[in-house]
Amino acid sequence: MNDPQTIVFTGATTGLGKVAALKALSEGHHLLILSRNSEKSSELINDFKKEYPAKEANAVFIDCDLTSFKSIKTAIEEIKTKVSQIDMLVNNAGMWNTDFNETEDGFEETFQVNLLAPVYLLEGLMPLLKSSDKAKYIVTSSGLHQGSINFEDIEYRANWSGFNAYRQSKLGVILMCRLFAKSHPEITFCAQHPGVVRTNLGHKFGWLSRAIFYLIGKSAKKGARTLIHLIESPKSELVSGEYYAKSKVTPITKESNDMQMAVKLKKVIDDNLGKLTY
Ligand SMILES: NC(=O)c1ccc[n+]([C@@H]2O[C@H](COP(=O)([O-])OP(=O)(O)OC[C@H]3O[C@@H](n4cnc5c(N)ncnc54)[C@H](OP(=O)(O)O)[C@@H]3O)[C@@H](O)[C@H]2O)c1
Repeated sequence: MNDPQTIVFTGATTGLGKVAALKALSEGHHLLILSRNSEKSSELINDFKKEYPAKEANAVFIDCDLTSFKSIKTAIEEIKTKVSQIDMLVNNAGMWNTDFNETEDGFEETFQVNLLAPVYLLEGLMPLLKSSDKAKYIVTSSGLHQGSINFEDIEYRANWSGFNAYRQSKLGVILMCRLFAKSHPEITFCAQHPGVVRTNLGHKFGWLSRAIFYLIGKSAKKGARTLIHLIESPKSELVSGEYYAKSKVTPITKESNDMQMAVKLKKVIDDNLGKLTY
């Protein structure tokens, strides 16, 4: 077992994130879990007790809905009252919409939850991460990150496509990972792809897509392997700014290595976050 670490974790209540969170708790890590659903938070602890009856879960749940920057800001403030240092931020939460949805902040939901929120959380928690010499940032991307960033219509308002909104957000988090790795060398930044996994992610799909997803998807236990590998590996064994699949650095598209595009995207993200009034 590694030294116990303090980990802020989103997307820990279901799917592959839950498997990874249970494993991290079983290793004795201290988890600050950002969750919008108290029932699922209780379920996580009940499942932990069933799976590891001899162990104690060192978990704190912090109310946080990523569709609300007010909620994320309050969560960051709460974290700061609880700990003075964090060793890891795991941004695993993600969603996929079929219909266009706007958040209370006025952003397209996928753009906010999958891309703006991870950057906002990372920047809000950066001082705490920098206080740790083990600092790691892990974000869950996807093999569907293909293509480019649609700068002309970043929220797909003119030409809505749930697939493109999802695909683009997952390219965005890889680009941000590479960019932050350059500007913050003291922190190790990794993006990961879990493979196709049978989870709730596709719950808004039509029945046929859902059936295919369930047919070809692997179990959440298998899908969590790369995430667990990244959580458990010391930063000296990881390559900052890289994309991991099957627990290995994996070469991907030229767009995902385009640092000019990363800088341009960061400016768009900053401009959008700059619109927030709190
Ligand atoms: N499944 C796949 O095949 C696949 C492939 C590639 C990448 N991924 C990525 O893997 C990550 C985990 O997804 P999953 O497949 O395990 O799906 P999942 O079971 O739907 O888990 C998604 C997690 O994100 C959380 N979340 C979503 N929206 C949120 C919000 N507004 N505020 C707070 N938390 C929110 C969910 O919390 P609630 O329980 O409250 O909804 C849940 O814990 C996602 O980033 C996804 O894009 C999945």
